[in-house]
Amino acid sequence: MIEPASSPAAERNKGPILEVLKEILPPRGRVLEIACGTGQHAVHFAAALPEVELLPTDADPEVLRHAAARIAQAGLPNVRAPERLDVHERPWSLPFEPTAIFSANMIHIAPPSAMEALVLGAAEVLDVGGLLVLYGPFRFEGEPLAESNLAFERDFLKARDPRFGIRSLEELRALAEPAGLAYARRFAMPANNYVLVFEKR
Ligand SMILES: C[S@@+](CC[C@H](N)C(=O)[O-])C[C@H]1O[C@@H](n2cnc3c(N)ncnc32)[C@H](O)[C@@H]1O
Repeated sequence: MIEPASSPAAERNKGPILEVLKEILPPRGRVLEIACGTGQHAVHFAAALPEVELLPTDADPEVLRHAAARIAQAGLPNVRAPERLDVHERPWSLPFEPTAIFSANMIHIAPPSAMEALVLGAAEVLDVGGLLVLYGPFRFEGEPLAESNLAFERDFLKARDPRFGIRSLEELRALAEPAGLAYARRFAMPANNYVLVFEKR
């Protein structure tokens, strides 16, 4: 078994995100995690939400090896072994019907097609009342982007791939609402990040 990689950012943000999840998720349900990375979020959330079943997924098989190692070490009954899921490969093949979908820090570190596939894929698999919950940095029309996020976008995201970039609530709504996912609310999080919540109607 490999020693699972750790993300310092995930270590810092998992607590604040969990507080939001406790507020918005029904106490029982099935959460599909998209782009799970190291699995730190999945393990932290599952330990605190024992009635919620979690399925972590990611597109990258190497990332999944690390998530699988962390999840096996944690030995929690309510986290499934992580599975490969690339949001572009629709329709998604899932072992359960999710009541919520959570994805952190994926859509800005990917081309716009990944944002579109995530939103449309979520709209396809969620039932009425199901939630799409996104965490990360976002733009909001009429509000300046924080200096730290501007620098992150310029020096890291665009330098890596010009298609990467911090997405706006307005472009997300333009994809989500025609697909039946209504924007519900936002939560301001530490370090100029946000949680955005969409609900299937
Ligand atoms: C910055 S990491 C975020 C990991 C974790 N969610 C977190 O916040 O720590 C971005 C993740 O998105 C995944 N990813 C990128 N493109 C994807 C796609 N098309 N479908 C699913 N996952 C994808 C990558 O493999 C990577 O694990």
